[in-house]
Amino acid sequence: MTILDGKKISNEIKNEIAGEVQKMKDRGEKVPHLAAIIVGNDGASETYVASKVKACERVGFESTLVKMSSTTSETELLNKIKELNENPDIDGFIVQLPLPPQIDTQKVLLTVNPDKDVDGFHPTNFGKMALDMSSFIPATPFGILELLERYKVETQGKHTVVIGRSHIVGRPMSILMGRKGFPGNSTVTLTHSYTKNITQITSQADIIITALGNPGFLKAEMVKEGVVIIDVGITRVTDENTEKGYRISGDVDFENVSKKASFITPVPGGVGPMTIAMLLKNTLLARENHRLE
Ligand code: GUN
Repeated sequence: MTILDGKKISNEIKNEIAGEVQKMKDRGEKVPHLAAIIVGNDGASETYVASKVKACERVGFESTLVKMSSTTSETELLNKIKELNENPDIDGFIVQLPLPPQIDTQKVLLTVNPDKDVDGFHPTNFGKMALDMSSFIPATPFGILELLERYKVETQGKHTVVIGRSHIVGRPMSILMGRKGFPGNSTVTLTHSYTKNITQITSQADIIITALGNPGFLKAEMVKEGVVIIDVGITRVTDENTEKGYRISGDVDFENVSKKASFITPVPGGVGPMTIAMLLKNTLLARENHRLE
């Protein structure tokens, strides 16, 4: 069994990006600049955004954190997005999700300039991805592809089962695994809350990508020997024995499933760190695109 070590690979990617930034500096060029908008004070979102800003510093990017109150109106947020769209110094930006209920998320995502949409959530980027055109691929799916590629996990002709159809992970992952090339060329089944007899499907899977947010959902009895497991779940579970009062749990019963798996991602230290590394990679790509304009 091989652990797909996202922490290690994400560090390698960050080192590669830092090397690119150094070359830009040496040539006297502008370095990539990522901005992040966070609305409200959801604890998990604040942690994620802080990690993204810290990662920018680590590789030598410029970063801007825009904090807006939980009572921000939709118009105020849309105006802030338009400001970032027009600011030539900003190469890419993200609006951290979820947003407070008074704000229409779809309207927000449609307002982001696709050329700066380093999350890859705008329909233009999502459509290009589905059509095999060059685009920003959402960071979590992009990170999973990168892990599969760097560990040379065979995907061609394999049966990939994706659990969860979210716009951020499950849906794009189901498209990417079926695309031509490597990683890809898989036969994909996309399962969700209405799927019947899920064990019958997961037990036939060569590769399982689970993005549910249901701690310990995937049990050893649900998978076959030699399966590849990608666990995207990151859920805070109350744990009095820890300093913070919670621990992070994935969707997979790691202890038992790992005994049957050929490759498996841990939580934490698997997909999570890859997401941040790939956001940086998309921002580097955005800078390069802007430079060539
Ligand atoms: N919320 C959970 N994951 C993500 C992500 O990848 N990007 C943004 N913007 N918000 C998120």
